[in-house]
Amino acid sequence: MMTRNEWMGPGEDTYEYFCNLNDQGTDELVALRDQQNTQRGDGQHRHERTWGATKAAEMIGRSANWLRENDPEAPKNLAGRGRWSLGRINGLRVAAGTAYKRPVLSNAIVLAMSKFKGGVGNTTNTLHLAHGLAMKGLKVLVWDLDAQHSATQIGGGLVPDLELEDEDLPNSLLLENPSGILDPLCSVVRGTYFHNVDLVPANSSLNDLEIKLIAQYQGQEKAQTEIAPEYRVAAVLGHIKNFYDVVLLDCPPTLGMNTMNGLLAADGVITSLRPEMLDRASLVAFTDGLAGLISNTGKCFSYFRILISQFQDGISADPIKGSVKVSAHKRNEGDLRALYGNAVMNSMMHHSREIGAAATGMSTILANEKPVGSRGAYNRAEGVVNAVVNEVYSDLLTLWDMESDDDE
Ligand SMILES: Nc1ncnc2c1ncn2[C@@H]1O[C@H](COP(=O)(O)OP(=O)(O)O)[C@@H](O)[C@H]1O
Ligand SMILES: [Mg+2]
Repeated sequence: MMTRNEWMGPGEDTYEYFCNLNDQGTDELVALRDQQNTQRGDGQHRHERTWGATKAAEMIGRSANWLRENDPEAPKNLAGRGRWSLGRINGLRVAAGTAYKRPVLSNAIVLAMSKFKGGVGNTTNTLHLAHGLAMKGLKVLVWDLDAQHSATQIGGGLVPDLELEDEDLPNSLLLENPSGILDPLCSVVRGTYFHNVDLVPANSSLNDLEIKLIAQYQGQEKAQTEIAPEYRVAAVLGHIKNFYDVVLLDCPPTLGMNTMNGLLAADGVITSLRPEMLDRASLVAFTDGLAGLISNTGKCFSYFRILISQFQDGISADPIKGSVKVSAHKRNEGDLRALYGNAVMNSMMHHSREIGAAATGMSTILANEKPVGSRGAYNRAEGVVNAVVNEVYSDLLTLWDMESDDDE
């Protein structure tokens, strides 16, 4: 006969039951992380991705011949072919005069990657944007504001609940000393395995931070700083954002205190949206939340984009009827463009197994030197990601140009 615990769950030993589940899950994450480390080096110091001559030359904006002539000493692979890291490519961009430098008086642009619905690809899009913009030569900071800490796990190659201590996290800084000097913050900004992409990490303790900030916000607990609890991220970022060109804030799928902090620190918002009805309904609620926040705080955003995410085309032709069946995603895309016009980005993040598989390997397709599946699938995914990155990059250049025009 079966006992209750065998098939129904916790019973009387509820605490132990969940601790066991947690241990089992953590062991699996550690094994996954160890496997990546064995193959590619540890999370922070993973072997850097390199590119061959054709791609490296394209990134520099010069021919492959120019590259070989100007950098004959580039490291070579076993086949004797030159391989270029992003750091090396950036050096060559300077030598070639093709490195982008944002206008001297311009500021870093802070983008809140924010939405209401979970699982839409927000973190995936954040990290692909971070890696893609870094490949353009920009310096990028990713700040993980989500207690689910996927950006820390995938972007940092870490098991966050196991490997991050208080001093690695921004929590106490946000509660006690957001206007403090730079040093304490620097200890919580870490390099990642991707050149010019830094990370302010998170783990589950961000849940506690949120509760404490809410208590301060509601006056139940005395704030330990003069800066209002919803402006703490903005205050901290004020000290460091200009070391970067772009700051991407990976916000949780709520409009709670952590997201509010992200939104109030941001110059703009990119909201990832799956082209499905429930997701669209969630966007309606999100825009309502944004309007509420703006009317309560007087916040202005200079940039807002809806990024269609996990798009599945699936157009199929019916040879008998001679008709073409349009996928539900395609129909929703059309509706979204009709409804929200220019707010919807032209390019979309398509659903791709290659992108999903990269996340399982604690990486992005841009950080992966080799496809996880077929080369064709990788190239298609890369094309999709590049289109999204190019569009955001071009928007950023426009924003910086506008800012420097205003200064004249
Ligand atoms: N474009 C995509 N193609 C395939 N899988 C994706 C894509 N974007 C996200 N995913 C997968 O969907 C899941 C949720 O993505 P995630 O970025 O964590 O969403 P969110 O941050 O909105 O919760 C993850 O398993 C991720 O690997
Ligand atoms: Mg996420």
